[in-house]
Amino acid sequence: MSERLPITVAQHLLEQQKRRFPDASGEFSWLLSGITLATKMVAAEVRRAGLGNKLGATGDSNVQGEEVQKLDVYANEALLHCLGRRGNVGVLASEENDTPVVVLQNPSHGKYIVVFDPLDGSSNLDLNISVGTIFSILARDGSASDAGADVLQPGDRQLAAGYVLYGSSTMLVYTSGDGVYGFTLDPAIGAFVMSHPNIKMPARGSLYSVNEANMDGFPEYCRRYLHWLKSSEDDAIYSSRYIGSLVADFHRTLLRGGIFMYPPTARYSKGKLRLLYEANPIAFIAEQAGGMATDGRQRIMDIQPDSLHQRTPLYVGSKYEMERLMAFAKKKGAE
Ligand code: AHG
Ligand code: MN
Ligand code: MN
Repeated sequence: MSERLPITVAQHLLEQQKRRFPDASGEFSWLLSGITLATKMVAAEVRRAGLGNKLGATGDSNVQGEEVQKLDVYANEALLHCLGRRGNVGVLASEENDTPVVVLQNPSHGKYIVVFDPLDGSSNLDLNISVGTIFSILARDGSASDAGADVLQPGDRQLAAGYVLYGSSTMLVYTSGDGVYGFTLDPAIGAFVMSHPNIKMPARGSLYSVNEANMDGFPEYCRRYLHWLKSSEDDAIYSSRYIGSLVADFHRTLLRGGIFMYPPTARYSKGKLRLLYEANPIAFIAEQAGGMATDGRQRIMDIQPDSLHQRTPLYVGSKYEMERLMAFAKKKGAE
């Protein structure tokens, strides 16, 4: 068969599942098709956001105290709708919902949990700058007292994780623990088609990404590290890139290497990014691609969450830049 014929994400997942779990029921790929359907709906809306009064804020703020954009609401409803009807999702937890939504009470039916950021970087929407959707899939062990507790699992327990980047093209990037795969939405056939098999993060990069306006609030080691990035010591020749949408800043880091940082700041003493639906899925992908992700002290995926919307510092990138950062963090007077 000609290699030009498309391999869709559904086909790829089924092949992967058969290889790894011969008796796979196909339930997992059915679940992921709920995400691809919802994100195709979001892509269609985002790509014509300037038409039909879709841009702008709703006037409400979410549990994070952040202004909710109209497309935040649309993306959230699309994911709740498409995933809620998969028949195997037990719990849905979203950045835009105060508490998790129990879809199927009985854990033997609703065996999956999906935690997601329906629209990441949404403050960039009006500016036509790339935004994304981030998701993390967990098994529902049903032993927890309630759905909320069931969701609070460390990142190491993720079954799969991924994001969709609504950029110059619409790309789905995901891992289920057996490498990282990228698919590009082909509008001609309305399917995500394999475009980046087995993505590996370069061992070293030449870009760093951080909002330097917050520098005064960074930990001392982070300020020293930034100084090193800007020096030409150890043949460190770096450029700075910062888009302000985590998915876009991370996707560039995944493909080009280097480091993305959201350290503690004066305003966000625990960091701004959320552990369960931003840092964990990004960390899973980074590690599967050969990179690293920490909160400055420990692996992101080792952190035991104690609340759905808890924030964490996030440092993620190539081994070389991450090991240099951790060397600064270990030095005396690092705080
Ligand atoms: P969200 O739109 O889901 O709230 O996420 C926004 C996040 C993340 O996308 C990005 O890395 C970060 O906010 C940028 O924060 P600053 O504007 O403070 O740099
Ligand atoms: Mn986000
Ligand atoms: Mn968001």
